Formats: sequence, C-alpha cells, structure tokens
Amino acid sequence: MSDTYIARPKPRPEEALKDPAVNRDFIGRLVREFYRRVRSDARLGPIFAGEIKDNWEPHLEKMTDFWCAVILKDGSYHGRPVPAHLRLKTVVEADFDIWLGHFRQTVGDLCTPAVAAVFIERAERIAKSLKLAMFFRLPAALGPDAARARTRDDA
Ligand code: HEM
Repeated sequence: MSDTYIARPKPRPEEALKDPAVNRDFIGRLVREFYRRVRSDARLGPIFAGEIKDNWEPHLEKMTDFWCAVILKDGSYHGRPVPAHLRLKTVVEADFDIWLGHFRQTVGDLCTPAVAAVFIERAERIAKSLKLAMFFRLPAALGPDAARARTRDDA
C-alpha cells in the first residue's frame, strides 16, 4: 500500500561555524601551525617532504581553502582529496592516528574548546572516509572468497 511509505527525514546539511574569531585569516594561521608540526614529525615529515618538496606555499593555500570550505562552508575548495591520497603508497593506517594527534593538539592550542571540538569532529570524519578509500576497497575487505565469487559472477 503506497500510503504506508514513510519518508525518512533528510539529514540536515552541516552548518557553517559562526564565530567571529574563526575567519580565513585565523584558519590560515591554524593550517600553517599544523603543517609546521607535521613537517617536524619523524614519520609524517618525510612523507610530506617527498611529495611537496620545497613547494609548500601552494599546499598551505590549498589546505586553507579546504578548511574554510569545511568549517565556514564558503565553497573555497574544489579539489578531490581521495585521488590525492590514493597515490601515497607509503602511508599506512596508523599514520592517520599521528596526523590526528597533531591536529587535535594544534586546534587545542589555538582554539577555544567549543571551536576545537568542531574542527576535530570534522577532521575525524574526513580521516575515516579517506581511510576507507585507501585501505578498505570492497573485494579485498571481504576477503579472497568474495573476490573469487565476484569473478565467477562476472564471467
Ligand atoms: C596520514 C595522514 C595523511 C597524509 C600522510 C597526508 C598527506 C598528504 C599529501 C602528501 C598531500 C599532497 C598531495 C598532492 O599534492 O598531490 C595531501 C593533500 C591533501 N590532504 Fe592529506 N594527508 C593525510 C591526511 C589527511 C586528512 C585526515 C585530511 C582531511 C581532514 C587531508 C586533507 C588533504 C587535502 C584536502 C589535500 C589536498 C588534495 C588536493 O586537492 O590536491 N589529509 N595530503
């Protein structure tokens, strides 16, 4: 019966953080401090150095765009983070814990607790989806049997 169908409410779009202290200028400073710490990390430093070499300024501007889009919802970022990370063959899942550790510390040092909580919640969610894309491709995650079954079905 069609009238038994109950529409599920659409998830509400994430809202822009409204705090006069958190503008592009502040986010730019936060990004620069975060990557200063990442660059001096014994594990992450060489990974970034290998990719970015001495060309840090464009990356820092891109990351400022990214965080402005994520936090202020101002549409500054138009890139594609997943392919950029799929190319990084030496990164392992545990590297994300190191990355998030520096991120939590940086926002904890520079932001009020309420603002820090917003940055951290969004970083953790994005990190989770990047990890899913990088380390849990479906057939592999389901094991060799699933991969074989898929081959048979496809044949
Ligand atoms: C172990 C963790 C991570 C490592 C080693 C890493 C490393 C990198 C590197 C080397 C690049 C530059 C790639 C290029 O220019 O081709 C990059 C780009 C980027 N990263 Fe990460 N990343 C990590 C985690 C994250 C997380 C958790 C986020 C978001 C919360 C993030 C957001 C981005 C974005 C937005 C870009 C720019 C992509 C583009 O548009 O080109 N990364 N990352």
